[in-house]
Amino acid sequence: MSSDQNDSNTAIPIRRPSGSLSSDIPRYWVGGDAFATHFLNALSSTFPFGEAFFVRSVMHYRDRIDDPELLDRIQGFAGQEGQHSRVHEQHVEILISQGYTALETRNRFVDRIARWHNRRTPKLSLSMTAGLEHLTALLARQLLTDPVLRTGNMHPEMARLWRWHALEEAEHKAVAFDVLMRVAPSHSRRVILMVLNTLGLSMEILDRMIYMLWKDGLLFEAKTWSGGWRFLFGEGGFLRGLGADYRAWYHKDFHPDDIDDRPLIESNAPSIEAEIAT
Ligand SMILES: [Fe+2]
Ligand SMILES: [Fe+2]
Repeated sequence: MSSDQNDSNTAIPIRRPSGSLSSDIPRYWVGGDAFATHFLNALSSTFPFGEAFFVRSVMHYRDRIDDPELLDRIQGFAGQEGQHSRVHEQHVEILISQGYTALETRNRFVDRIARWHNRRTPKLSLSMTAGLEHLTALLARQLLTDPVLRTGNMHPEMARLWRWHALEEAEHKAVAFDVLMRVAPSHSRRVILMVLNTLGLSMEILDRMIYMLWKDGLLFEAKTWSGGWRFLFGEGGFLRGLGADYRAWYHKDFHPDDIDDRPLIESNAPSIEAEIAT
């Protein structure tokens, strides 16, 4: 990937990596580990329709915002998510070419549901978006806190993709929330939606992982799941230690910037910008 343009006139820079992911990314691109790879494949495969949904959810209310600073951040948010959606779509195409063909039908189906929600339930869509942005910010923080541990054993192109995506999730994490607070600030709605988001995303990821592990003949191998448990919840596990930040969402006066990610952004941005430029 390379970066052919940076927009510096917005607080949230839109970086536009050019080129495509190469098609020879190995099947198990996280250190040869099928479970870890399919966990991240499952997550990655939800981004093309998921991030398009996020952008539509926020843009629906753009005309109701008159704060120029927030309007600038909305533009940066939409630009960043558009780029993520595009590159993760390339990843989905690679997964389909590797034989995980049901992802295509599944994504088309969920995309249709997401579009229906945008049209018929815009407040719920925005609240879901703000909540899912909180979840992506948790994962981004995990990754940016120790990029070597989290991405050091990945295929280099995928490592670059995840580091770049994590940086930008941290940069725009408060945009959907700030729009939500202006147009539909109900605490109970965002609490209920977060419970549903957490369950829904977990089921969607699990469902996709089960499919890919089944395709590989690894679904019923005990070591797939024992190793997977260690990857997620063991010492240094990917989801370990996220509880307090996750629960912060439920506090009535929560704001995403209560968790200060600026030091992580500042320490990671230069190297990530350099690597997406090559
Ligand atoms: Fe994103
Ligand atoms: Fe995002």
